[in-house]
Amino acid sequence: MTFQSLDGLVQGLHHITLVTSNQEVNRRFYTEVLGLRRVKLSVNQDDVFHRHLFYADEDATTGSAITFFEWPELPPGTAGLGSPHHLSYRVPSVDALPSWASWLRAAGVSVVGPLLRDGRVSLYLRDPDNVSIELTAANDQKLTESDVEELGRNLPGVTAVTSGMRLTTFDHASPVSSDPKLTARFFEKFVGLKDNFSLPAPDQGDATILAIGNAERPDFIRYLASERAREGYVGRGSVHHIAMAVEDDRDQLKIKRHLDDVGIGNSGIIDRFWFHSLYFRDPDGNLLEVATKGPGYTADESRETLGSRLVLPKWVEPRRTEIEAFLRKTDAGNPVSWPPVYPLTPKRPEALTQSN
Ligand SMILES: [Fe+2]
Ligand SMILES: [Fe+2]
Repeated sequence: MTFQSLDGLVQGLHHITLVTSNQEVNRRFYTEVLGLRRVKLSVNQDDVFHRHLFYADEDATTGSAITFFEWPELPPGTAGLGSPHHLSYRVPSVDALPSWASWLRAAGVSVVGPLLRDGRVSLYLRDPDNVSIELTAANDQKLTESDVEELGRNLPGVTAVTSGMRLTTFDHASPVSSDPKLTARFFEKFVGLKDNFSLPAPDQGDATILAIGNAERPDFIRYLASERAREGYVGRGSVHHIAMAVEDDRDQLKIKRHLDDVGIGNSGIIDRFWFHSLYFRDPDGNLLEVATKGPGYTADESRETLGSRLVLPKWVEPRRTEIEAFLRKTDAGNPVSWPPVYPLTPKRPEALTQSN
């Protein structure tokens, strides 16, 4: 058969899925502190006695959904090969960053920055489970290092997440690679994405950033690459997988055929009800997903009531009573502590080996 090009099929990120230890602490953090909306409360379809929580913007836009499996029994994870390092949200402008620093500090969250990055300015924080989150904006005003330091010294008083601060969509996800050339070849051949540029990693001299993306979003995956990178472990506070968006089933199937043709293991197409999914791993073991844009989160709930009650895909619905009883038992053994004691954010937030 002819080998069709996959260029242009993947449109950007679809969602990023992580692991939390406590759904209520998680809900309060992502809604009350980060200002997102819960758009789906469901269960992990591969492990139906554990919750799956989805947060996004008001319209549940593709590319803004952060989702969590609740697994209180897992030990803390470690970033490294197979366990992505951090995720990054875009904010509307650099001016939103001092507002976020002020708001987060008032909530007891440890933040580092704003810091000058390549062509952008970023603020870093840790969520209650130690997930590393970057908030970033393009450096349109061409601020210098001292301008950015000045921004960090003059924080405004902020009493709410205003529209000028909103997390608009993901900017990038950062998994870890031990071999950027191999990673780049893998994405080019099997996902139709290019390695568009590479840069020295900002917080670690011997590592580079490998930017993977398409024409519109050249770096929505920013691998932190180092031949000395160590194995990671997916646990509490880890990124479990990174999902990329394709338009429809046909485009998804083209990617599956490319994987099948050379024998790369994949999950086959799975109906997740709100979208269709295909899972596979990159050469370093990072779990990736290609998901269709539709049917979308409003397939079983109205836009107004998204995320307000436990919804189950129809093939799981017959087990609702059993599942709800199990979840009540989980909650009884997993008390909510709010506000949480937030983990410290490392001073070099994009270093592969993190210490304070
Ligand atoms: Fe980053
Ligand atoms: Fe997913």
